[in-house]
Amino acid sequence: MLTKLEAARKSFQNEVKAATILNDVEQIKIKYLGRKGIVADFMKLIPALPGEQRATFGHQINNFKNEVAEVLEDCTRKLSLVSAPQVKKELFDITLPGKQIHSGRKHPLTQTIEEIKEVFARLGFDVAYGPEVELEYYNFDALNIPADHPSRTDFDTFYIKNDVLLRSQTSTVQIRIMEKQKPPVRIIAPGRVYRPDTVDARHSFMFHQVEGLLVDEGVSFADLKGVLSQFIKTYFGQDIRMRLRPSFFPFTEPSAEVDISCSICGGKGCGVCSYSGWVEILGAGMVDPNVFKAVHYDAEKYTGFAFGMGVERVTMLKYGIDDIRLFYENNMRFLSQF
Ligand code: DAH
Repeated sequence: MLTKLEAARKSFQNEVKAATILNDVEQIKIKYLGRKGIVADFMKLIPALPGEQRATFGHQINNFKNEVAEVLEDCTRKLSLVSAPQVKKELFDITLPGKQIHSGRKHPLTQTIEEIKEVFARLGFDVAYGPEVELEYYNFDALNIPADHPSRTDFDTFYIKNDVLLRSQTSTVQIRIMEKQKPPVRIIAPGRVYRPDTVDARHSFMFHQVEGLLVDEGVSFADLKGVLSQFIKTYFGQDIRMRLRPSFFPFTEPSAEVDISCSICGGKGCGVCSYSGWVEILGAGMVDPNVFKAVHYDAEKYTGFAFGMGVERVTMLKYGIDDIRLFYENNMRFLSQF
């Protein structure tokens, strides 16, 4: 008998949980407390019980009845609040803090790209774009990168099929623009690049670069230096220093790697700059005559410079971000700081 009562209690509790409108509560009330309801049915069983059990069972039924009545009353009160706008309005607590509205913002990498575009726009550079799925020709051959260069293996480049790949550098856009346009050329090309690197605090299989290219008559290395130092001082601050180290890239001759005085420690030496006081931010140089040959520019008449920088890298250096993965994780606590 008592187990039957327990079962009735369980199903009552489930039904109450599922009730969403007042009418539901009313139906439950009829089912349990009505004249022909479950409680009444239990009551009818009492007289047939042996004497000593009657009192206990009667007591249990009464408890159940009171419990049902109480729970239903409570439920009725709660549901009427929801459906009675007047009551709801009166319950509005004006001392509660307002709902915070989160406004969207641009991703820090987008912000950096926009800042870079702005600086170079003032120097007369247009913005150009090229495809991320690229022909091997634009990523390597036209850039004077020989067939046996290690960067062409599939350890360093994602191949889609034979001569189609995911571009590993934005230098591809140099060729695409020069093929279409006669000098003078003055562009920057921001975009994504891909390399099969194992992801860690400094590497990602996808990152962003901004390429720069200026071609005209009489362009010199001094012009390159002037443009880069203008950019560095505007982006990082007036007291940041720049230095050029001789280097090699197949598509520029001479080539240089460009360092800035470490923006984290001010050049004193820290973990970020490996205690050297300098950090590399880009590669640059004078456009190699072989590149001009590939796009049918007259290398006797024109000279030019090119550069390529990592967007993640300059952003990390500017803000002291120590893990590249933070840019791609969509963590609002990180992103909302910018
Ligand atoms: N494409 C080079 C890289 O991804 C960067 C670079 C170096 C671009 C020198 C240039 C340049 O335009 O002149 O490492």
